[in-house]
Amino acid sequence: MIVAVTGASGRIGRATLAELARAGHEVWALDVTLPPVGLARRSLVVDLTSAGDVFGALDGADAVIHLGAHPSEAHHVRHRVYSNNTASTANVVSAAVALGIRRVVYASSITVYGLDWQARHGGITALPVDESCGTRPDDFYALSKLAGEAVVDLGAREHGVYGASLRIAMVVGEDEYADRGRPRDESDASGGLWSYVDARDVAQAARLATEHVEALGPGNHVFNVGAADAHTRGPVGEVIARWVPELAHLARGVEGSAFSIARARTVLGYGPRHSWRDHVAA
Ligand SMILES: NC(=O)c1ccc[n+]([C@@H]2O[C@H](COP(=O)([O-])OP(=O)(O)OC[C@H]3O[C@@H](n4cnc5c(N)ncnc54)[C@H](O)[C@@H]3O)[C@@H](O)[C@H]2O)c1
Repeated sequence: MIVAVTGASGRIGRATLAELARAGHEVWALDVTLPPVGLARRSLVVDLTSAGDVFGALDGADAVIHLGAHPSEAHHVRHRVYSNNTASTANVVSAAVALGIRRVVYASSITVYGLDWQARHGGITALPVDESCGTRPDDFYALSKLAGEAVVDLGAREHGVYGASLRIAMVVGEDEYADRGRPRDESDASGGLWSYVDARDVAQAARLATEHVEALGPGNHVFNVGAADAHTRGPVGEVIARWVPELAHLARGVEGSAFSIARARTVLGYGPRHSWRDHVAA
């Protein structure tokens, strides 16, 4: 199938191009900075906040994997993060509806849960956290991701889009383990109950969602996407109990990750293949 990937020049985007090409799909790469050539049949410079760019670039695609966004408030002021991300998603979903592209896979984020706040205010009643957990975005980036889910949901309810929203844990690119990818036992900056995921595994989930979403029927199907293990050297349950005492009673028995990927495993056949342990001395 012809799969258009927005945000194709980014850490997840590059991995997604490779994953799709390996699986035999025709890939179109869209980004505001020139996307990598080689893996993609078409590489287009596209500003996702321009409806004209988006409608023109998506015409003829069978599916879109929408990754293009400012992925935090680290490098852009918050109103810009919100407006860039929400305008981009509105354009992508509008174009998909108008052009008859039924499959829309959207990069949402673990941040929609606001886990750090929820952990301290009674919002987490079971571990590992699955998709039934309530949402409580606590910055403009997280709110932009949740707004994007709502737009995908609207496209599904009103226009028959087959949507998948991937709530992705903190992503580590293949070349980022020396820094961003180091485990964080000694810090209370958990990044979502010490979850993480390799960009190549996110690419796997995005490909699987693209291939399977039509069989799930119209809707916005939500999946947590994370690694099988936690971003801790020690057992994650002990690390949570140490830094988030409010969750100690739930955390002790947790093995692997405190961020459940059971639904993606069961419904999509997702199986993460990468661990920080393959890259950083344990
Ligand atoms: N990095 C993480 O930890 C993480 C976690 C959860 C979800 N996500 C989501 O995954 C997606 C990809 O994240 P990433 O880590 O690869 O980020 P990244 O910054 O490496 O890549 C994002 C890409 O989007 C492009 N982009 C942004 N605004 C655009 C616009 N208006 N027009 C065209 N291109 C635009 C950028 O040029 C960039 O190449 C984002 O939607 C992000 O919100 C990321």
